[in-house]
Amino acid sequence: MIKQITAILIGAGERGADTFGEYALNNPESINIIAVAEPQKARRDKFVRKHEISEENSFESWEPLLEKEKFADVALIMTQDQMHYEPAIKAMNLGYDVLLEKPMATTLKECKSLADVSESTGKILQICHGLRFGPFFSAIKSIIESGKIGDVVNISLRENVSPFHYAHSYVRGHWHNREKSSPMILAKSCHDMDILFWLVGQRVQRLSSFGSQKYFGRDNMPDGAPDYCIQGCPIEKSCLYNASRIYLDIIPLLQIGAKSSKGLEKFIVKSVLKFPKLTNLPLFRKVKDYSEWPVSTISSDMSREGKIKALNETNYGRCVYSMDEHNVVDHQVINIEFEDQTTAIFTLHGFSNEEGRTIRVDGTRGTIIGEFLASGDNLVLYNHLTNKKTIVRKTGRLSGHGGGDVVIMETFLKNVQSKTKQDVLTSARVSLESHLMAFAADIARLEKRVVEMKEMR
Ligand SMILES: NC(=O)c1ccc[n+]([C@@H]2O[C@H](COP(=O)([O-])OP(=O)(O)OC[C@H]3O[C@@H](n4cnc5c(N)ncnc54)[C@H](O)[C@@H]3O)[C@@H](O)[C@H]2O)c1
Repeated sequence: MIKQITAILIGAGERGADTFGEYALNNPESINIIAVAEPQKARRDKFVRKHEISEENSFESWEPLLEKEKFADVALIMTQDQMHYEPAIKAMNLGYDVLLEKPMATTLKECKSLADVSESTGKILQICHGLRFGPFFSAIKSIIESGKIGDVVNISLRENVSPFHYAHSYVRGHWHNREKSSPMILAKSCHDMDILFWLVGQRVQRLSSFGSQKYFGRDNMPDGAPDYCIQGCPIEKSCLYNASRIYLDIIPLLQIGAKSSKGLEKFIVKSVLKFPKLTNLPLFRKVKDYSEWPVSTISSDMSREGKIKALNETNYGRCVYSMDEHNVVDHQVINIEFEDQTTAIFTLHGFSNEEGRTIRVDGTRGTIIGEFLASGDNLVLYNHLTNKKTIVRKTGRLSGHGGGDVVIMETFLKNVQSKTKQDVLTSARVSLESHLMAFAADIARLEKRVVEMKEMR
């Protein structure tokens, strides 16, 4: 019989509360979160209320929570990138199995230490590399393992980030400054490094990389633009990055919704895109009241006044060209050679027509071509001998990182129940490889040289 796992949560933000907290509420027979550490009062109070957490188990920070003896089965560590290492080490030393968000840490030394401590304490340390768990990349892995495309020779993987998402997270948001968070190739693309490592099934021998912050900066700031969009910008109607367009009118989200396979959703968003004033009518009101990502990030007050206040006072209202602290790349490429001579090319950029990843895997007997997009997946298999084309997947939009988020938690709970550490698909030791690749790419880009992976190990 499956026993309910008890958990402590560190960081009740978007991942902690909205993704895994919601999972716990929807699956009370599997997991019960009995304690929380979260400094933001509004977030903490909301989490305590929803999960019925006792007063003595509600903490303003992770330190006092981890000062206590272990009193639950697992720790979920969902803080920002630079606050993963210390609580994860402490939690494992106390005896908790840990589910930790990616990137596992922001320095090479800390990543290695996490893998070592997981092994020396015998605790599970599972990293949230959700792509491996979703149906899209699992299908590619199964095809490769079936031998249908022969031996893999080359993979092209692209991470195409759309302008609004890039601006939200990497210009205005948490990950805009590499010293305060981490290099974008680590923060965003350790997922992609992990996927390449997993699909090829080999370690990387060497890599090179190029990229920069080419577009964002005061040189491209339009004449007369104020530092905050909402203060009246002369190009507000034509600026892709206008903060009101993104956070009040949610135009980029409506444009994604217009491709929805759900009839009513499509009707609502298409109507609002054409006639914005419709949002005053009850049927369309939810567009105006929208309070999920990315809008939920800008404030804990989701009233119209609260949103406008955030656009006047926080970086989320800033002109993207005036964010002087922004120093992460807006485009980067990596050339990779694996130990068995397989090669891969990876591209990351923030200027895509549609958010998502695209992939091409060429093998000696076949080719896989796939799109993993905000609007849905497509996956096609070509057989070189018969010239046959097979549609493997064609779906509408999937939530939760293409279905991976739910499976991350299910797998973690299963691993904790069975205590079979060898089954941890994204253990710290396995995930270390993707992080080594990302650190190596950052060095290769900055030092303009080929990095031999033996330097990193
Ligand atoms: N696996 C994925 O696909 C995926 C997707 C998005 C984000 N992430 C990662 O998840 C992590 C969290 O991202 P997020 O978007 O939820 O961020 P977030 O900022 O919404 O959440 C982090 C929370 O940690 C809290 N916190 C800060 N200091 C704390 C402390 N001392 N003790 C306890 N809590 C503290 C913050 O107040 C915040 O509520 C990041 O590392 C991010 O890179 C992973």
